[in-house]
Amino acid sequence: MIYVTGDTHGEFGGRFNVKNFPEQKELTKEDYVIICGDFGGIWDVGEEGKGEKYWLDWFAERSYTLLFVDGNHENFDRLYAYPEKAWRGGRVHEIRPSVLHLMRGQVFEICGKKIFTFGGASSHDISGGILEKDDPYFKRKKRRLERDWLPYRINHISWWKEELPNQEEMDEGLKNLEKYDFAVDYIITHCAATDTQELLKPQNGTDIMTEYLQKIKNMVHYEKWFFGHYHTDRMINEKEQVLSKIIERIY
Ligand SMILES: [Fe+2]
Repeated sequence: MIYVTGDTHGEFGGRFNVKNFPEQKELTKEDYVIICGDFGGIWDVGEEGKGEKYWLDWFAERSYTLLFVDGNHENFDRLYAYPEKAWRGGRVHEIRPSVLHLMRGQVFEICGKKIFTFGGASSHDISGGILEKDDPYFKRKKRRLERDWLPYRINHISWWKEELPNQEEMDEGLKNLEKYDFAVDYIITHCAATDTQELLKPQNGTDIMTEYLQKIKNMVHYEKWFFGHYHTDRMINEKEQVLSKIIERIY
């Protein structure tokens, strides 16, 4: 079985407990729960903190295998430092043996389904800008932004440029899709394609991620596309579904 859910942002207690997700009683490690980005379970600066380690170990002990694509709120310095391995036709970072990060531009074969994955998105909660910790005016700038109630983030502490894809990742995605004749069963991303984002959040505009996903959307035959990022649960049309808090069985 395959389940999908939206952004978790490091909050796992409620959503995944047996009361809210009773189906897990029937699952095994050959069943999968996929988080559509903004996992947030790898966030601490430097190394796994106590709380973070607790939840990663907790997921490793669940009945199912936990998978996630990355969102825009992940600690990419640390996420990309976990060992990389080949898994079910694609590449993953192994966080725990049954907690895996599905890398960008991969096609995985899970439960007989072909799944294209591509994490990442632009952060939009940064109208105050990105601060640099070693800026001599760091404290002064931070105080001013806080006084003016302007959301800001700090490079390598709460924001990483890797939230958006590089050319290599985008090229790899197209190359891997080509191997499957541009036909997959499911697409799982954090961000939506430009035309879908325009429906959901026109104020976000477009960027390299939405434009790439638009290209994918126009080019690839797929049955269903699941994504997070917009903090709402709804069907966009018969193929696209945005997820937030619900855990939905898709296969
Ligand atoms: Fe997000």
